Amino acid sequence: MRPVDRHCSRGAPGGAPSHPLLRGGSPPELALPPSRVARRAPRVARRARPKGNNINSLLQYTPNPPSKPQGPWHLLTECHAAHGDAFTVPVAHKRVTFLIGPDAAPHFFKATDDEMSQTEVYNFNVPTFGRGVVYDVDARTRSEQFRFFTEALRRDRLKKYVPQFRAEAEAFFKSWPDSGEVDLKDAFSRLIALTAARTLLGREVREQLFEQVADLLHDLDDGMRPISVFFPYLPTAFHRRRDAARAELGRIFAKVIRARRAPGAAKEEDVLQQFCDARYSPLVQGGRQLTEDEITGLLIAVLFAGQHTSSITSAWTGYFMVDSRRHSIEEGKGGAAGSGSRDAYAAAVDEQRAVLARHGDDLTLEVLGEMDALHRNVTEALRIHPPLLLVMRYAKKPFSVTTSQGRTFVVPAGDVVAASPNFAHVLPGVFSDPLEYDPLRFAPPREEDKKKPFSFIGFGGGRHACIGQNFAYLQIKTVWSVLLREFEFEMATPVPAADYDSMVIGPLPARVRYTRRKLTAAAA
Ligand code: HEM
Repeated sequence: MRPVDRHCSRGAPGGAPSHPLLRGGSPPELALPPSRVARRAPRVARRARPKGNNINSLLQYTPNPPSKPQGPWHLLTECHAAHGDAFTVPVAHKRVTFLIGPDAAPHFFKATDDEMSQTEVYNFNVPTFGRGVVYDVDARTRSEQFRFFTEALRRDRLKKYVPQFRAEAEAFFKSWPDSGEVDLKDAFSRLIALTAARTLLGREVREQLFEQVADLLHDLDDGMRPISVFFPYLPTAFHRRRDAARAELGRIFAKVIRARRAPGAAKEEDVLQQFCDARYSPLVQGGRQLTEDEITGLLIAVLFAGQHTSSITSAWTGYFMVDSRRHSIEEGKGGAAGSGSRDAYAAAVDEQRAVLARHGDDLTLEVLGEMDALHRNVTEALRIHPPLLLVMRYAKKPFSVTTSQGRTFVVPAGDVVAASPNFAHVLPGVFSDPLEYDPLRFAPPREEDKKKPFSFIGFGGGRHACIGQNFAYLQIKTVWSVLLREFEFEMATPVPAADYDSMVIGPLPARVRYTRRKLTAAAA
């Protein structure tokens, strides 16, 4: 075995590590779209003098225009072509070791927190979430806090959120004219915030404080820039606004929480209520209730985990699905359900008709569970465009990794280690025709994601897999069920490219055309 010493010399990956809880995530500048991944990359000199080991060269990635062929995507493409699944890039005074694809990634996802830690790479979020939560606490307290998330997002809880998603979606789309054009990213950004406010933050915020809280969350969001990852306490105007917003959110939620905990107060059906009622186990924090500020911090954390990721995935799902309709018409394929990858829209519409025939107008967790075609359409959109470029850990102990090229290396303790959903999902050899939108790749008998563990990592995997995955699917499938029942769609623009300048990677501006209609049940 040899240590991973294959330094890739293209310079630092730039920007920030990416994690849904962190919302600060992906490097800001990814110059090349995924479609370039298959191209032959230029050879990278081994052990050439690294360009990226001072802070200026890190920052140079921030303002570059996206058309410039540099940046993290290009870096990954070059280094992967030159070195295979495992390579190390110097970033400032650190080594960042990339483990790309299902052969190299298992330890990354399966290791314990003592072996691969999140704190060191994600603690720049502390000023955003606040003290005493998530990356500001020891591992045992954090795992208790993740238990609160898990319990708040259990199946019996999720059941209660579905009608709330539906109510928000129906009210939202009611305000649309009977026909028009809409940018799906903008529309979903607002709608997902409303559904999240209702189910996570609670009725009081949704009904009385939404605009005020949304403005404060915007300041928190804006206070997370690439430089914040390296210098989260730098005295800048946007950090000052972030800190003021966090303090004000604390005051607002403290009032709501006190009212919820008052004797005789009614119990609500939301995540806030779960946090109000939760207790640490006796061995951790002496079994006490969460403080008001801890609850505020946990709410901010789940909101940051789920807002951009879900709204972006809803938008990509729409663009790919609707675009598949155009292909279907152009090719005269007719669009029978499930007849081919390009019939994703027809498959989802036919599925809604069939579900209407079986269940009438009901839209419950169980009914959503029957929508396999829509589920695959969402998963495939997430495969092609996972919103997170990188997930990160800090190696506390050395470990070995064997690549798909059959070479074994040792990653030393002290390395920052990164996996990339965005890059790994379009590697040739893992998924067939990886740049094609082909939802049936997830259906039997193909099931391409099941051939090797950690092939599909849109929701991460292993020990720290996304806790909100089921919540996200229900949210996105509810919204799209309402849309497919109420409207007909076609593309008004081509499917957009990804905006690699944004912190969480979403679609650039684009539009679909819609016409109101009432979908009827399929004939028996
Ligand atoms: C389409 C939407 C979503 C995507 C693509 C997504 C993606 C991810 C990914 C890739 C991870 C793993 C991060 C890592 O390994 O470092 C993760 C973790 C997590 N996600 Fe999500 N997420 C989504 C929605 C949500 C929602 C709606 C919630 C909560 C309501 C949520 C809560 C969490 C939490 C709490 C973790 C941390 C788990 C841990 O570290 O143990 N996510 N998510």
